[in-house]
Amino acid sequence: MVNTKKFIEKAIDEIKTAAGNEKVVMALSGGVDSSVCAALAARAVGDNLIPIYIDTGLMRKGETERIRTIFSDIRLDVVHAEDEFLGSLKGIVDPEAKRKAIGERFIRVFEREAKKNGAKCLLQGTIYPDRIESEGGIKSHHNVGGMPLHMEFSKVIEPIRDLYKDEVRDVAGALGLPKEIQHRMPFPGPGLAVRVLGEVTKEKVAVVREANWIVEDEIVEKYRPWQCFAALLGLGTGVKGDNRIHGWIVAVRAVNSRDAMTADPIDIPFAHLTRIGSRITADIPSVARVVYDITAKPPATIEYE
Ligand code: XMP
Repeated sequence: MVNTKKFIEKAIDEIKTAAGNEKVVMALSGGVDSSVCAALAARAVGDNLIPIYIDTGLMRKGETERIRTIFSDIRLDVVHAEDEFLGSLKGIVDPEAKRKAIGERFIRVFEREAKKNGAKCLLQGTIYPDRIESEGGIKSHHNVGGMPLHMEFSKVIEPIRDLYKDEVRDVAGALGLPKEIQHRMPFPGPGLAVRVLGEVTKEKVAVVREANWIVEDEIVEKYRPWQCFAALLGLGTGVKGDNRIHGWIVAVRAVNSRDAMTADPIDIPFAHLTRIGSRITADIPSVARVVYDITAKPPATIEYE
């Protein structure tokens, strides 16, 4: 466990030295990692920090409004890039290719925003497990292996690259960030795209977004999981009213973990699981089936792709 006070001083120094008098652009998603980076960088470079929120069209329900409310006291540019991201994902089925396409798109948006603001440095909230899994060839986290080799930035600064998630949460507490941010569940950079198996389309994202909303509503407060979410597995047969339908199969995942390197499914009472299933199929007409994922990590990962 790091000494948070020392870490904060060292990180601020490091950002100051790396940025010099240059402007620094960063994507603030509202998760704990990017919020900690923003708080450190604001202390290090002040007004030279340019935080942007990118609406990728792959974010959770209500996220853009939430971000505007939480960060109402800082100048946050909201960039609407939904069509761009969905366009880049068209026809892509392979999970790694999806991650790479998203990583590439993120960088292009950063470059554009940096140019607009005259920024030369990019700040990223990469944490230790992101690097391990990317370097170990397990998968390319969008902010590591998914980055294109050619970038128009003179510097990439990653101040929390050696921290585990629980350490990031401790730093968030020490920096005085709101509890809602400090304890928020992790959400992957590529967003809902890694929770839709196969090609990502606007329709599939809309279904998984709504299902995810229900899953969080039913599970977060009650079980305080490390992570819970919905994923869209594919199409299957179902019956709704008098008709057989070809409907979506939604998986519900809820796990506990210490550092995301291993995880265990949460023992949710069967009666509650069936209620969650009924709510999802009732609220989303195109869903025909709901399953609960009972797999640990390993052998499964937490996310589906
Ligand atoms: P997995 O699925 O590898 O996930 O067991 C471990 C933790 O990392 C999150 N995750 C990601 N975070 N970019 C991120 O920033 C990614 O590409 C990514 N993939 C997974 C996941 O939600 C879990 O908390």
